[in-house]
Amino acid sequence: MAAPRILLIIGGGIAAYKAIELVRLLRKSGMVVRCVLTRAAEQFVTPLTLAALSENKVYTNLFDLKDEVEMGHIQLSREADLVVVAPATADLLARMAAGIADDLATTLLLATDKPVLAAPAMNVRMWLHPATRRNVATLRGDGVTVMEPDEGEMACGEYGPGRLPEPAAIKAAIDDALAHAPAPAPLTGQPDFAPADHRPLFGRRILITAGPTHEPIDPVRYIANRSSGKQGFAIAAAAAEAGAEVLLVAGPVPLPTPPGVIRIDVETAREMAVEVEQGLPVDAAIMVAAVADWRAADTASQKIKKDGSGAVPPLALAENPDILASVAKSAQRPPLLIGFAAETNDVIAHAEAKLARKGCDWIVANDVSADPMGGETNRLHIVSKAGVDSWDRLPKDAVARKLMEKIAHELETRAPLERD
Ligand SMILES: Cc1cc2nc3c(=O)[nH]c(=O)nc-3n(C[C@H](O)[C@H](O)[C@H](O)COP(=O)(O)O)c2cc1C
Repeated sequence: MAAPRILLIIGGGIAAYKAIELVRLLRKSGMVVRCVLTRAAEQFVTPLTLAALSENKVYTNLFDLKDEVEMGHIQLSREADLVVVAPATADLLARMAAGIADDLATTLLLATDKPVLAAPAMNVRMWLHPATRRNVATLRGDGVTVMEPDEGEMACGEYGPGRLPEPAAIKAAIDDALAHAPAPAPLTGQPDFAPADHRPLFGRRILITAGPTHEPIDPVRYIANRSSGKQGFAIAAAAAEAGAEVLLVAGPVPLPTPPGVIRIDVETAREMAVEVEQGLPVDAAIMVAAVADWRAADTASQKIKKDGSGAVPPLALAENPDILASVAKSAQRPPLLIGFAAETNDVIAHAEAKLARKGCDWIVANDVSADPMGGETNRLHIVSKAGVDSWDRLPKDAVARKLMEKIAHELETRAPLERD
């Protein structure tokens, strides 16, 4: 059986030092321990001590971007078998009972789908205060196991209940909780936050472009297309869920950034070309963006005005860089290069021609005649040298997950890129 995984949240109380002994006991019994310290806890114990004892990275800050890429806070809360709060301060109990999530510890506690065990420690008056009594009752009602604190002399000199139970007693409560832990209630249709290295694209870097580009004519007008960015963003989300490091170069669309995705916003095709080039090397590039073929040859620095004569101003066009073809020719060509093609007629024939012309590995052809860009579903044909794989019409997030499965399968036999 796999070693039980404990997420240990340490609150800022005088008894925090006992958490060190608890980590030692848990490690000795073969458990995997990840520690999270509240800001107050850092006043009592150091992350370094806990990292050394747990032999794992210690987490303190919710807004640590690097960790958010490597391990999202939701995943951190889900990959444990049990979440243990020790010492649980009066403050932590209050925030937990109220559903407050204003730091890493409480965010994890609100986001977890695993059982929670709290070992309180505080001054006797704090423990007996009606507010704490209410909070403990609420938490127990919510299914949290709140241990009774020990009774005795306190660090402050007072006497009564409020001392942290001994580490051995907390360990026994942990064993008991693990033995009786119910399976988490699944939320249907939700991504699976299995441990990162179990995910099919773990260790892979994937670049995705999405959305339209806007090509300015003057300061207030631009050439655009109807791309909504929804399919590209769904693909970025699915790639991140599958464990990949994802760089999303997005044209101007008002969509939220999917969790775990690094997003770079651009406006024009030329800006997108620069960001894509800088994003290489990657294991796979998926060019979903509907890049404008042409831009205004000259952008007016001031708004072009009607002069009342009825004369129409000339609009000369210049060709934009072909981003897909340039990536295909680049010295850093990704091992798997995928282009998208939105077509209104002869979808597969056009896709086959595009595959040969652009020098990519797959063209994902998208029939936009029946359901124009911006819809919620897609019917795709994956055209490659191996032939044509036609899928049923599916919601865009389902399309994205299916595409990730195919990409993971394709990359399976190739070693991940060497990284600095
Ligand atoms: C020296 C000292 C000892 C403290 N010990 C405790 C304690 O044992 N239990 C407790 O609930 N609060 C204790 N506090 C107060 C907490 O540190 C304070 O409520 C803090 O906001 C808790 O933050 P946290 O819940 O995010 O860890 C202590 C404060 C100080 C200065």
